Amino acid sequence: MLKGQKTAIRSLEEDDIDALYKWYNDQEVNLWSSGAWPLNTLLSKDEIAAKFLDGSPDTYRYAILDENDLLIGTIGFKELNIPGQSATLFIVVGNKTYWGKGYGTDALITFARFLFTQWNFHRISLDTWDENIRAIKAYERVGFKIEGRQRKARFVLGNYHDVILMGLLRDEFLALHGK
Ligand SMILES: CC(C)(COP(=O)(O)OP(=O)(O)OC[C@H]1O[C@@H](n2cnc3c(N)ncnc32)[C@H](O)[C@@H]1OP(=O)(O)O)[C@@H](O)C(=O)NCCC(=O)NCCS
Repeated sequence: MLKGQKTAIRSLEEDDIDALYKWYNDQEVNLWSSGAWPLNTLLSKDEIAAKFLDGSPDTYRYAILDENDLLIGTIGFKELNIPGQSATLFIVVGNKTYWGKGYGTDALITFARFLFTQWNFHRISLDTWDENIRAIKAYERVGFKIEGRQRKARFVLGNYHDVILMGLLRDEFLALHGK
């Protein structure tokens, strides 16, 4: 278990599937996380279990807990680049009552520290879209910098939006947050 100030991060468990099923079929959660809605098909519990519990060789997913060990979201990384010591990070605080209260930032700091010190990554990348200001602010608080934008690359509810590309280097992170 990784411990932050407000959150903890642990492996995903079978008992988590009901909450994940609710969140990953939720319109608002999907809109913010990927811009995608409606989903072409809702995900079944079996699909959620296969995706989150069985995993895939290149995607690692974990559970985010609050101070009382209640599951509030998931965090993970994919697209490992071994020579470049880098990966792409993703996060979803699925329990909407926790949005905007510092839990996402705390989980990101805790997880980034794990990636830099345990996985020995040198760089973490991520992307979001221009209207997800809450995510951009949280990422900036962790130390991520905007490195570029792909103009009108995402279509959300009838409008094109820019994709914002962000990156964080190990030295920058450790200077801000320490080991
Ligand atoms: C993005 C996400 C992980 C952020 O976690 P969080 O716990 O909600 O965010 P935090 O409270 O830690 O930080 C949010 C920041 O945005 C600000 N903020 C909060 N609500 C906001 C809003 N509605 N609009 C704009 N800014 C907002 C906060 O002030 C804070 O900035 P600050 O630290 O500079 O004050 C979480 O909201 C989430 O999972 N949302 C749904 C899915 C998603 O968007 N995933 C990311 C996909 S790239």
